Amino acid sequence: MNKESTYNSILEDILNCTKCALCRSKTHYVPGDGPLDSRVAFIGEGPGREEDAVGHPFVGAAGRLLTELLKEIDMQRDEVFIGNIVKCRPPNNRTPLPEEVDACLPYLFAQISVIDPEVIVLLGNTPISALLSPQYKVSAIHGRIFEKEGFKFFVTFHPAAALYHGEYKELLRKDFLKLKEILNATKNSIGGF
Ligand code: URA
Repeated sequence: MNKESTYNSILEDILNCTKCALCRSKTHYVPGDGPLDSRVAFIGEGPGREEDAVGHPFVGAAGRLLTELLKEIDMQRDEVFIGNIVKCRPPNNRTPLPEEVDACLPYLFAQISVIDPEVIVLLGNTPISALLSPQYKVSAIHGRIFEKEGFKFFVTFHPAAALYHGEYKELLRKDFLKLKEILNATKNSIGGF
């Protein structure tokens, strides 16, 4: 199977998933968006109200900030993969339960293994806990890169945090500038695109 057909079959599995109770309260599944050759994947927690209404990730206020932060480092939203730890909205935007994360993670692993991004950006504590370690907290490790199981993870705050605490916006900006440097270094080390 080529990349597209493998990815389409993952999508089909996601869009028919009944592995946890979230599928019953959601409006739309939100599998994630982005090209299959994305150099970077941004991973949030789970769809909110606006994402649930349309089936696409980060389309609300946090998503607008993410788009702005990307523009500031000369990246367009449609050139990166944007997804979440869980594909269905948790009621009232609560943090996904461990069993919901466990049920959903195999889909993200499958997506990531097809896309094979150079860097996976973890937005806040939920993706840090699910993909890196539950012992890490974003405030202690943001702006750093971690290697695990052949993947590079870059850690920063969830953009929603900056909507509630203005001071995080500047930290996010600085982290995005570091991300840009990391991507430029990777580009140069493999001869450029
Ligand atoms: N917050 C998330 O974690 N994901 C979204 O898709 C939107 C807001």
